Amino acid sequence: MEENLRIPVDADRRAVYEALLPQIRSLTEGEPDFIANVSNIIAALKEGLNFFWIGLYFVKKNELVLGPFQGPVACTRIQKGKGVCGSAWESKQTLIVPDVDAFPGHIACSALSRSEIAVPIYSTENKILGVLDIDSIFRNDFDETDRLYLEQVTALIAALPRE
Ligand code: SME
Repeated sequence: MEENLRIPVDADRRAVYEALLPQIRSLTEGEPDFIANVSNIIAALKEGLNFFWIGLYFVKKNELVLGPFQGPVACTRIQKGKGVCGSAWESKQTLIVPDVDAFPGHIACSALSRSEIAVPIYSTENKILGVLDIDSIFRNDFDETDRLYLEQVTALIAALPRE
């Protein structure tokens, strides 16, 4: 059964996040270039968590445009309210989708994706900057632990210098 293959969100994943956060902080400290910093953050997340797809979409002219990512090629532009990412943007909330096939309007960049988490990135002035999106090949692979830590990652991204 596919469900039995699920990577459980347990102390191990928590430990990975706990190790990743200071790593991300030190990776970006003193570096002013936004793209360099977010590229390294995505690479660190991919290396630590090894999800199928991890990447960023940035709001540009009122749509989401693909930014640095690790994983297979992905759709370039997503409209507000569309798919998991556009819905996370519209609702201003992290969306955890345990089964992407059951999410109306899910945008399938890869047929291998089974579950997904999309975390909106808000600036300190509460302005939407983009969305951090992660796809897993396992159903039901994300829970509140992921939300907790990934929202800390997006807060870090929001606080990075932007030229
Ligand atoms: N599935 C997303 C699209 C982005 S990819 O997963 C990389 C969505 O429905 O918004």
